[in-house]
Amino acid sequence: MATIINDRSMFGYAPASGTSILMRHADWLFLDMVLSAKPEWTNLVETGTFYGLTSLYLGIVAKLRGGQLHTFDNVDQRKREVARAWPDCIHFCHEDILESANGELMRWLKKPYTFAFFDNGHKVAEVVMYAKFLPVGSGFVVHDCGVEWQEKDIAYPIKAYNFDKHMEDVALELGTSCRAYVRQNESASVSP
Ligand SMILES: C[S@@+](CC[C@H](N)C(=O)[O-])C[C@H]1O[C@@H](n2cnc3c(N)ncnc32)[C@H](O)[C@@H]1O
Repeated sequence: MATIINDRSMFGYAPASGTSILMRHADWLFLDMVLSAKPEWTNLVETGTFYGLTSLYLGIVAKLRGGQLHTFDNVDQRKREVARAWPDCIHFCHEDILESANGELMRWLKKPYTFAFFDNGHKVAEVVMYAKFLPVGSGFVVHDCGVEWQEKDIAYPIKAYNFDKHMEDVALELGTSCRAYVRQNESASVSP
């Protein structure tokens, strides 16, 4: 069972060349459970496209609910066969999201009914820079807790912008390194 949960493939996809897929099955399960609980989230955003496999999953979710996915990377590493499988509601955005918080990413995060999957190279920096733009009722999952970052590292934005932990018991039970947060109400201290 542990082997299955720790396996990193999805859709049976194993590229002939390149590194492994970066999501474990526990991460996929958690992402799916979080999204299933919030069918109103139709504006999906992903930071860190990499091969585009998680984008494919998120794009299918978006398509099924009549929404869209914008996925951001500063380097286009999409595998051709994966991008070919993308539904037409997925938009790849070539942007260095850590350079400034004034680009396309900020524009999409501000829209209502947003869900963000934060998975670029520096998770703490992106949560600190971008969580404040999410409207009330929107949420995000951030990958690699306990691997690249600790919960204390993002304690300030979580508290200052009124996010609650979401489905933490499920995350712990599954053993995923994903953590989910949902914004409860506006904070007075949000800067544009
Ligand atoms: C962990 S991988 C993303 C994995 C992908 N979400 C998946 O599930 O397969 C991190 C990605 O973030 C991208 N990245 C790193 N720094 C970035 C930056 N400053 N702006 C945008 N993308 C960045 C990298 O190029 C890399 O593709």
